[in-house]
Amino acid sequence: MSPDLLAIEELTVRLRTRRGIRRAVDGVSFAVGSGEIVGLAGESGSGKTLTALALLGLLPGGARVSGRVMFEGRDLVGLDRRRLRELRGREIALVSQDPMTALHPLLRIDVQLTEHVRAHLGLSKAEAEARAVELLAAVRIPGPAAALGAYPHQFSGGMRQRIAIAVALACAPKLLVADEPTTALDVTVQAGILRLLDNLRHEHGFSVLIITHDLGVLSAVADRLVVLYGGRVVESGTTGEVLASPRHPYTRGLMRALPGAVGAGQAMTPIAGSPPTLDSMPGGCHFHPRCDWAVESCFTVVPARREIGGGRTLACDVDPLRREGPETAAADRDGEPGLEPELQR
Ligand SMILES: Nc1ncnc2c1ncn2[C@@H]1O[C@H](COP(=O)(O)OP(=O)(O)OP(=O)(O)O)[C@@H](O)[C@H]1O
Ligand SMILES: [Mg+2]
Repeated sequence: MSPDLLAIEELTVRLRTRRGIRRAVDGVSFAVGSGEIVGLAGESGSGKTLTALALLGLLPGGARVSGRVMFEGRDLVGLDRRRLRELRGREIALVSQDPMTALHPLLRIDVQLTEHVRAHLGLSKAEAEARAVELLAAVRIPGPAAALGAYPHQFSGGMRQRIAIAVALACAPKLLVADEPTTALDVTVQAGILRLLDNLRHEHGFSVLIITHDLGVLSAVADRLVVLYGGRVVESGTTGEVLASPRHPYTRGLMRALPGAVGAGQAMTPIAGSPPTLDSMPGGCHFHPRCDWAVESCFTVVPARREIGGGRTLACDVDPLRREGPETAAADRDGEPGLEPELQR
């Protein structure tokens, strides 16, 4: 097996809040293999964006980062700004949540695509333009040559997001980090973008770290899932396995809150309570105040993340599946809260 392209090890991001220094990302470890799509999931405030920014060296001033971000064997933590800037755009590209910020609203598409390519790859104007047309065609923009002369506002939201992906791919990165790439889009457009990402990674052979609060999005495209809660990884594994038999009470709750996970006419059950803020982070297992399974030790003991076979990890000392016994566990795998088959890959 080829070594991982990206291996994040014990990544911790400390931020200063009004009440002191808090860990917004707390000992996060996971890897992204070559050509793999890994999904980072979790509710608002779980530390998804900060994890992405930490690996890109784009954390806000005042943030302190520790741990390792091994990219092709080099540790990016502590790399100087110039080297990081070179790496971004060339080897690691970011597609941010809002296509309007990903693209400059006042610059024509050709400028946004060719300047980037020329600066990083040292191509002539004509070569850069030919490459820009190729990229727009790759992201399925109709009439790519004509599209080069247009401005972002002349495209729909879905088209703008495709163009933002083209800009990110301009320098043929090895890793694409996509932070909520489809959140602002309606469901059909969203499905189109996800299919596109999946096709492109096969055609171009890059890896993707896709970040979203929506497990439904990840079920369509990710090979593996990493679930974050309160800055910690609570569960990880192949998408098929995690969605078919989620082990952490939080993952199970996320899945019950998913529209496709319940039958017609049944109400969705969102997880009770709201996610913690940095200043209200509970002790022990961060999820315990919202957890139906919590026992006394969950209030004080931080559950260790352990391997549970099949390449999966779990950070829960209760593990509902184990407590339910094999019979209920088997029934669980056949029905709720697992995803309906059509939502699985
Ligand atoms: N510059 C900052 N200063 C202080 N706290 C911050 C800063 N940036 C983020 N945070 C806090 O850190 C935590 C993690 O933030 P992050 O943006 O990574 O969450 P997220 O999982 O991406 O959420 P969302 O789904 O809303 O985008 C949140 O509680 C957030 O309020
Ligand atoms: Mg975010």
